[in-house]
Amino acid sequence: MRIIKNNIFQIILLSIFISCQTSNNLSESQLNKKVDDLIEKMTLDEKVGQMTQIDQRFLDTITDLSTYSIGSLLSGGGSHPSVNEPQAWLDMYNKYQSETLKNRLGIPLIYGIDAVHGHNNVYGATIFPQNIGLGATNNPELIFEVSKATSLEVAATGIDWTFSPCLSSPEDFRWGRTYEGFSSDPKIVEKLGRSAVEGYQSVVTATGKRIVACAKHFIGDGNTEFGTGMNGLVDRGNTILTKQELKEKLLPKYQAAIDANVQTIMASYNSWNGVKCHGSKELLTDILKVEMGFQGFVISDWQGIDEIPGNYKSDIATSINAGIDMVMVSGQGQPYKKFMRLLKENVEDGSISLERIDDAVRRILKVKFSNGIFKSPIVDNEKLEIIGSKKHREIARQAVRESIVVLKNENVLPLSKNLKSLVVAGRGADNLGMQCGGWTINWQGGQGDITVGTTILDGIKKSVATETNIIYSTDGSDLEDSESDLAVVVIGEDPYTEFFGDKDNLDLLNEDIQTINNLKNKGYKVVVLLISGRPLNVANHINDWDAFAAVWLPGTEGDGVSDILFGDYNSSGKLPYPWPIKAEDGANADERNLLYKLGFGL
Ligand code: BGC
Ligand code: BGC
Repeated sequence: MRIIKNNIFQIILLSIFISCQTSNNLSESQLNKKVDDLIEKMTLDEKVGQMTQIDQRFLDTITDLSTYSIGSLLSGGGSHPSVNEPQAWLDMYNKYQSETLKNRLGIPLIYGIDAVHGHNNVYGATIFPQNIGLGATNNPELIFEVSKATSLEVAATGIDWTFSPCLSSPEDFRWGRTYEGFSSDPKIVEKLGRSAVEGYQSVVTATGKRIVACAKHFIGDGNTEFGTGMNGLVDRGNTILTKQELKEKLLPKYQAAIDANVQTIMASYNSWNGVKCHGSKELLTDILKVEMGFQGFVISDWQGIDEIPGNYKSDIATSINAGIDMVMVSGQGQPYKKFMRLLKENVEDGSISLERIDDAVRRILKVKFSNGIFKSPIVDNEKLEIIGSKKHREIARQAVRESIVVLKNENVLPLSKNLKSLVVAGRGADNLGMQCGGWTINWQGGQGDITVGTTILDGIKKSVATETNIIYSTDGSDLEDSESDLAVVVIGEDPYTEFFGDKDNLDLLNEDIQTINNLKNKGYKVVVLLISGRPLNVANHINDWDAFAAVWLPGTEGDGVSDILFGDYNSSGKLPYPWPIKAEDGANADERNLLYKLGFGL
């Protein structure tokens, strides 16, 4: 009897806990009532406004926010306030939010941003390793902490919503977004993606606002056939899978995110068996909402509906009828007022039912209510100093050192801290921008000192004894013979994202090979560190290298690299992707054609 009573007590406690968690102290029925009451009062124009998302850069005038009762703003890659510093971000948020709140019913904005490896658009924020590096740590607790720290930095600028985590499991490394996936293995992505969602959404501000996560891109973004994408390459191409294969291979990652209560999901640019995901009712409604039980709202990708065959008006009808709830119009292509006019016309002429509109608006308002956005739309600046804080940089440094995968070591690592001298060379050695990759400060990232952080060279300098002479050379050509016997050479890829990073050839740059040759010819032993968003063609070169490690795109905390180089920590990173002899063969390369298997790491 006692046991039963205890159990009942526990169940009651648990359900109270769950309802508090999901509805910011509102019970499910109270929440539904609030939302229904509000919808009851709304005009069609106001509903259309809620379904519209605009990049703040493309607002015609700020008063449009209140006039049209706009539901959401975003900052796309590089969409900064005029001065890129934390206080200006917070001021920008509050300015837009206050204006929006003047709408007839006082409905707040939900403001979204790509905080995909830290709050990466913000100057001075902590930049964590890109997901490929986090995948190499294979450490769900760490990924929880990384995501939580990211949300804390996002929350400090007022922003409500991050378009992260990316749950792709990329198979073709020629894809420019390979690094946004934790792994090519959907099982690893499932495990780490769940932790990321939990970490992001664990953050509740002092005023009770919870950060909203977004699992993306639904679905098949990393599985497109080469040649079917933009410019005849990979990005936004066609994914060919039977429904059964889709269910077994790709849906469990999303089911795990839904079970972890992810509030939003972004549709993917790619097609599934020739049909654009943005226009697929089977995917967005039948599978995602009905079969998988997703209760949050579906956001389209940037101008993603524009790619559906037909004209803009029919694109709108097709996508909304398919199950898109909010459209990332952006305003860069089609004007947002045109979008709103055509969405309304579609309802008036019966192409979209009012039930569908109400369902979309209900989902959006529920997310706003249950995450405290109605309760505390305006944010004060008590926590700005958390952005780029020592504590967060420490978490990032730990992530960096756990992400490094040592692939070859002929008795040179760890390096001694008491060498007389050490050469550090290569384009990537003192290059924060290259370390961070795309989605950093700007959409495509940048070169050099784009933000605040520690380069790999800085980290090495901090690690060695004061007597050690560090000789830095970009390409090794200016060095005398054997100024020391050892050189650390940092080579790799220049920053990119999306289709800009699609390449049909994954060879190392000639420049980089030349740098290594310059050093080898002068008698140095070389430790090669590769900064990259994917496996590259190294098979023909590694015989010349004495040690080799993949450092991926580590972000701002370069001293995590020296932590491993000098043996302060043992390397524990494991390959999250198999490394084929020919990198273009991707994750499906035959075992016999692999240089290193997934999971390898010394
Ligand atoms: C924006 C990005 C966006 C991209 C999509 C850019 O202009 O800044 O945030 O992802 O367009 O094509
Ligand atoms: C990308 C998304 C991103 C969005 C907003 C798109 O181009 O595909 O991942 O969230 O832009 O910047």
